[in-house]
Amino acid sequence: MKGVILAGGLGTRLRPLTKITNKHLLPVYDRPMIYYPIETLRNAGIEDILIVTGGNSAGDFLRLLENGDELKVNINYAYQRGEGGIAEALGLAERFAGGEPICVVLGDNLIEGNIRDTVDRYRAKGEGACILLKEVDDPERFGVARLEGDQIADIVEKPKDPPSNLAVIGIYMYDQRVFEIIGALEPSARGELEITDVNNAYIEAGKMSYGVLDGWWTDAGTFDSLLRASHLVAEGGANKLG
Ligand code: G1P
Repeated sequence: MKGVILAGGLGTRLRPLTKITNKHLLPVYDRPMIYYPIETLRNAGIEDILIVTGGNSAGDFLRLLENGDELKVNINYAYQRGEGGIAEALGLAERFAGGEPICVVLGDNLIEGNIRDTVDRYRAKGEGACILLKEVDDPERFGVARLEGDQIADIVEKPKDPPSNLAVIGIYMYDQRVFEIIGALEPSARGELEITDVNNAYIEAGKMSYGVLDGWWTDAGTFDSLLRASHLVAEGGANKLG
């Protein structure tokens, strides 16, 4: 299984910090943000990793990570032009995936625990998709799962009236069908290809499973969540990479 870290975007919510570098290179406590998703993948036994980035500061990733040797992973790079969204960025990973299943991590998602069990369960099945859910206090900020019994009926992106408090975290496992699904997507109202539409396509096809994450999870794309991420890491747990 291969890993894909999506680390593009303009990071507009973190201006002016992101005028001079990419959001995913900003510090979270004592390490650049991108170290944490790399560690998430490495902890799950995934060492062949593609980083998809964009914007003016893409070269900063090479300066920091080089080929990944220091972090004991193999890093590849892809460049996303423009702002076509998370699913468009993922589409750039098709050649890298080479028909293998992939584990996709949004570059600003940090977790305390290990996803190895969920990844191993998905690997054993070898097809379809798998996502991770986490109970949160502010589901309206995220994609939210609506459950029917113990099945996910659908995912609603940033709902005003959330159907549950189970957020879809930014860690997804897909088989090679994901690239067909992305190819057929239409841009959303904000002009982007949405990862939630990809997940809903798997749900409609009856090919989605899920796990519930143990331990804390946070994104780090706003000043408040970036600060929260630093505190959570400083207080212990999380990743010890580098
Ligand atoms: C994205 C996804 C959302 C998910 C979140 C996790 O939102 O669209 O479904 O819950 O990541 O961090 P964004 O952070 O791009 O607004």
